[in-house]
Amino acid sequence: MGNRLKKVAVVGLGYVGLPLALAFSKQGYKVTGIDLDERKLQLLKEGRSYIQDIPDQQVKESAQRRQFSATREMHRLREADVIIICVPTPLNGDDEPDLTYLMQAAASIRDHLRRGQIIVLESSTYPGTTREVLKPLLEQSGLSVGTDVFLGYSPERVDPGNRHYPLEVIPKVVSGITDKCARAVEDVYKTVFQTVVRISSTDAAEMTKLLENTYRFVNISFINEIAQLCNSMGIDVWEVIEAARSKPFGFSAFFPSPGAGGHCIPVDPLYLQWRAKQFGATSSFIAASREINHRMPRYIVERIKEALSRESLSGVKILVVGVAFKPNIDDTRESSAIQLIECLQQDGAAVSYYDPYVHEVRVQGKLLTSVHISGNPVSQSEYDCAIIAVNHEGLPLQQLIDQIPLVYDTRNALKGMQGTAKVIRLGGGTPDSEGNAGIPLRD
Ligand SMILES: NC(=O)c1ccc[n+]([C@@H]2O[C@H](COP(=O)([O-])OP(=O)(O)OC[C@H]3O[C@@H](n4cnc5c(N)ncnc54)[C@H](O)[C@@H]3O)[C@@H](O)[C@H]2O)c1
Repeated sequence: MGNRLKKVAVVGLGYVGLPLALAFSKQGYKVTGIDLDERKLQLLKEGRSYIQDIPDQQVKESAQRRQFSATREMHRLREADVIIICVPTPLNGDDEPDLTYLMQAAASIRDHLRRGQIIVLESSTYPGTTREVLKPLLEQSGLSVGTDVFLGYSPERVDPGNRHYPLEVIPKVVSGITDKCARAVEDVYKTVFQTVVRISSTDAAEMTKLLENTYRFVNISFINEIAQLCNSMGIDVWEVIEAARSKPFGFSAFFPSPGAGGHCIPVDPLYLQWRAKQFGATSSFIAASREINHRMPRYIVERIKEALSRESLSGVKILVVGVAFKPNIDDTRESSAIQLIECLQQDGAAVSYYDPYVHEVRVQGKLLTSVHISGNPVSQSEYDCAIIAVNHEGLPLQQLIDQIPLVYDTRNALKGMQGTAKVIRLGGGTPDSEGNAGIPLRD
């Protein structure tokens, strides 16, 4: 069926939807991207990309080949053979699933649904969403899923900023409400993705995504807890992780950080926790991980106070290096570096930040702008301390350790480097008088 289908509509052109739309257009599909954000639509019309991994050229070429166009007109959904939903699935104020965007998008699809269409949900969500929420909503059109239209779920695994795994290379899990639905989705996706993994139900496919992200959340929090234990025992956690990963099986290395951030990792486990509660179950791992993750910024602030021998950070000038939620990207959603800035400010510190990818960021309602340190000498009195929160490639690290008296390195970015600063690493143990870690605490 797949190769005969020619028109695809992608609803939601964000970090997930735009790359996906362009991947389909590259394979010869005529793709209509649908979004409500006028700014994004205008940029796309001008042949410009707002996603860092996608060069303007790619948008321009797809548009020139008439393989891709973007609109906010929902009636265009009717032209599509395949409709893929990539809208946000955030949490509401009570940290519970907020399916508002999904319900809105699904209602638009319902209003323009026609026989023969294939609808695939890609947004991350709790097991049961496609079957219990999306299916009944689409069937309000009078068309039946499995006979008139075909509905499936395929979790998105794109990893923004990761150049080693382009979208088409990441194996794609697909599923359908019925067997026929699953085969329809598989046939289409096989024409774009190198490997397609079909599984038995949409519930299992939704759970697959939550397992992957909860696994990351739990392990990131676990290694952060181990980093704190190592620090208390005067053991360098970074050395320990290096040694442990020399084991060729049974150990996957995770590394300390100010915490898990982003739109997915701290959010998706709460979708799972919420759903589990509906079945009278709960995950103590998710609860504990959440607690550890939440405490990380405060933990770092306490270590900095200790290093400066101060009760409070009132008036202390601190430079936070990196505010994106992970290296080499410009996305700041749920960034632990921003939570760290909030925490430092609450303690009275005067905080500036430097991030080559993020020119401005809002912290507690106030707009902060990245300072320019790269290549500009920092005067010794400008900052009392720098915190390396994110290890983007190409940071001016030597400059930091030569020009700022104290550097707190949460990522072991300064490994092997020498400078005049006193350097303390997250989980690096207590430094001795020469700055070497791994020395037990003394009275
Ligand atoms: N960002 C990632 O790395 C990533 C990875 C895997 C999965 N996901 C999941 O994919 C989904 C989308 O995430 P994202 O990062 O692309 O979000 P995003 O915020 O970058 O993009 C979502 C887009 O949907 C648009 N939108 C919202 N409601 C709409 C509607 N009713 N009709 C049309 N467009 C609408 C928004 O304007 C926005 O442009 C989420 O469920 C997320 O958890 C994200």
